[in-house]
Amino acid sequence: MEGPVHPKSIVILDCGGQYAHLIGSRIRRLGVFTEVRDAETPAAALKGAAGIILSGGPQSVYDRGSPQADPKIFTLGIPVLGICYGLHWMTQALGGEVKQGKVKEYGQTKLKIENASAPLSTSRKSKITKGLPEEITVWMSHGDEAVKLPQGFERFGTSDACANAAFSDERRNFFAIQFHPEVTHTEHGVEILKRFTALCNAAPWSVESYSAEISKQIKKGVGDRKVFMLVSGGVDSSVAFTLLNKVLGAERVQGLLIDTGLMRKNEVALVKEAFDTLGIENLQVEDASQEFFTNLKGVYDPEKKRQIIGQTFLDVQKRVSEEMGLSVKDGCPSAGSGQTSLRDVWMLGQGTIYPDTIETGATKHADKIKTHHNRIEAVQKMIDAGLVIEPLKDLYKDEVRKLGEELGLPHEFVWRHPFPGPGLGVRILCALKESYPNNVKELPMENPPADYPINKQIFLPVQSVGVQGDGRTYAHSIAFFPKKIFEIAEEESRFATSYPNSMFFINRVLHCCSHSVFPGIEFTGGYITRERANLLREADAIVDEEMKAAGLYEEIWQFPVVLLPFGTKKGGQSIVLRPIASIDAMSASAVVLSPKVLKRMTERIMQLHGIDLVFLDLTNKPPGTIEWE
Ligand code: XMP
Repeated sequence: MEGPVHPKSIVILDCGGQYAHLIGSRIRRLGVFTEVRDAETPAAALKGAAGIILSGGPQSVYDRGSPQADPKIFTLGIPVLGICYGLHWMTQALGGEVKQGKVKEYGQTKLKIENASAPLSTSRKSKITKGLPEEITVWMSHGDEAVKLPQGFERFGTSDACANAAFSDERRNFFAIQFHPEVTHTEHGVEILKRFTALCNAAPWSVESYSAEISKQIKKGVGDRKVFMLVSGGVDSSVAFTLLNKVLGAERVQGLLIDTGLMRKNEVALVKEAFDTLGIENLQVEDASQEFFTNLKGVYDPEKKRQIIGQTFLDVQKRVSEEMGLSVKDGCPSAGSGQTSLRDVWMLGQGTIYPDTIETGATKHADKIKTHHNRIEAVQKMIDAGLVIEPLKDLYKDEVRKLGEELGLPHEFVWRHPFPGPGLGVRILCALKESYPNNVKELPMENPPADYPINKQIFLPVQSVGVQGDGRTYAHSIAFFPKKIFEIAEEESRFATSYPNSMFFINRVLHCCSHSVFPGIEFTGGYITRERANLLREADAIVDEEMKAAGLYEEIWQFPVVLLPFGTKKGGQSIVLRPIASIDAMSASAVVLSPKVLKRMTERIMQLHGIDLVFLDLTNKPPGTIEWE
C-alpha cells in the first residue's frame, strides 16, 4: 500500500466499504489499471495517477475517526469521482453541507437524470451520464445526504428520498454520486464508470500486457535466488507456480503440494495431470493429512482453526524442504549449511491475489473480516523481511484466470470454482457437544393460512460467519421445514433477507430439502477428523457431479458444501448446499436450484451413511458470507 502509484492508473481511495475492490475490478475490465489505497493517502503520493475515486463506506463524515482524504487531491488537476460516502466527504471538503437524511435509502431506487439528452454546454447535465435514459434503476445504501452543494457544482440526478443524488463541477471534472455504479443492480453503472474513465488520461492496460511487467517484477524480486512454492491445487497458486516456472526456469523453482486431508476428492490427481500437460514436473506431493488432523484435534473456534491450518502448512513446508535438502532459516527454506551467498538462498512463493489482502484489513478502513491464510503472522514476518514473492498480488480473479489460460493451463482447470486455501476445514463446522442442548427453539408462526408454504421454523444449534454492514458476524441460522421440500417458495427467499435484518442473532436462512416435517434434532458435536472430512468429500463430489450433469457449472460461481454437527439421531450429521452466483465474491446471491437438481442432490446425499438432514442455504452475501466459517 506504500510507495508511488502505478503511473496513469486510477486510484480508489478506500473509505471503508466493501466495495473499493469491486470498483477496482470493474474499471480494470474497462482497460485501465486500478489501485486501492488508504483514504488518507497524501495527495503528494498520488501524483502521476490519472484519476481518483473515493469509495463508499459505512460511517458518517461527522463521525470521529471517519476516513478523511487529503483535500489537496483537488489540486492535482485530475478527475475525481466520489461515490456514496465519497460524495459526502467531497461535499464537505469543498464547502458544501451534509446532513442526516430524513429517510435512509437501502436497495434499489429510481434515479432521474436531469437533462440527460441536452447538449453538453447546458447546465444540469453531466459528461458521465451523457446519452443515458432519463430514468435509471440504481442501488443506494445511505443515511446522510448532501443538503448544500459546494460552489461550482450543479445537480444532475435526483431520487425520491435524495434530492442531490448526483452533482458535478463539469469544468474541473469533479463528480459526486450517491448511488453505487459498481454493483450490478445499478443499470448502466458500468457505462457511468466508463464515461468517467474516459475523462482520465489513463494508460491502456490489459492482463496480457501486464504479464510482461509481472515477469520483470519476478526477475527483480527473486534476483539470484530460487523459489520454493506451496501449491494448494487452487487456481491462484497453480497459475503463480506455472508463471514462476516460465519466468525463472524449472531448475530455480520447486513446488510442494501438501495433501492436508482437507482437499476435494481426487484433487491431487487432477492437479498433477494439469501440470503434466505443461511438462512441469518439479512438484512434490506430500501426504501430511495425519499432521493436520492431529493439530486440529479438539479445536472448535473457526479463527483458531484457520490459524492452525496456516501454521501447519508452514511447519510441513519447513520439514519437507529440509528433507529435500534445503535447510530452513526463519521459516524460509535457505541454502544448505555453509552456503551463505545470496545465489543459494530460497524465497517462498505464494499465490495471493489482490482482494485477498483486504480480508486481513490491508487498507486502514477495510474492516478485518478474517485472516487470510497467506497473511497469518508468521508469513507476514517473512513478507516484511523480503522473503516472499507473490506474482499475482495485484490481479483480480478473472485476470488470474486469463493469465493461466495464456500460460497454457487447461481451460476447465483454470475456470474451476474457487476453493479456499484452508479447504474443507472451513466447511466442517465444529462444536462441543455439551455447548448445545437438544431442545432447539422454534420461531412460532401466527395463524398461517392453510396453503402457507412453511410447516415450521427452527433455530439451528450452530453458528456461522456472516457479514453485515461492513463488519463480521457470528450468529445462528434458522431453517424452514417446508410443505414442498424440493421447491423454494417466494416467501422463503423474501425471509432470507428480512429475517437477518430484523433478528440480529440470525445471519443465515435455510430450506430443509430432506424433511417436510421437523424430525427433531440430536446434537452430535465434534471437531475436524478424517472421518468427517471423508464424509464431506463424498457429499461434495456428488454435488460437483450433479451440478456438471445439469449444465450448471458455469452459471454457479461457487458451490460450498458444508457439514454440520447435528442430525436426527445419535451421531448424525447434516449437509448444507450453498450454491451462489457472484462476480468476484465481494457480494453474492443465493442460487435457487431447480426442483429436479435439488431432488437428485438431496436423494444421493441422503444415501451417505451418517447424513440425516440436507439443507439449501438461501442467504445472500451480505448478510451471510459465502463460506460458513
Ligand atoms: P467469504 O466466505 O468471505 O468468501 O464470502 C469469499 C471468497 O473467498 C474464499 N475464501 C478463502 N480463500 N483462503 C482462501 O484462499 C481463505 O481463508 C478463504 N476464506 C474464504 C471463499 O471460498 C470465497 O470464494
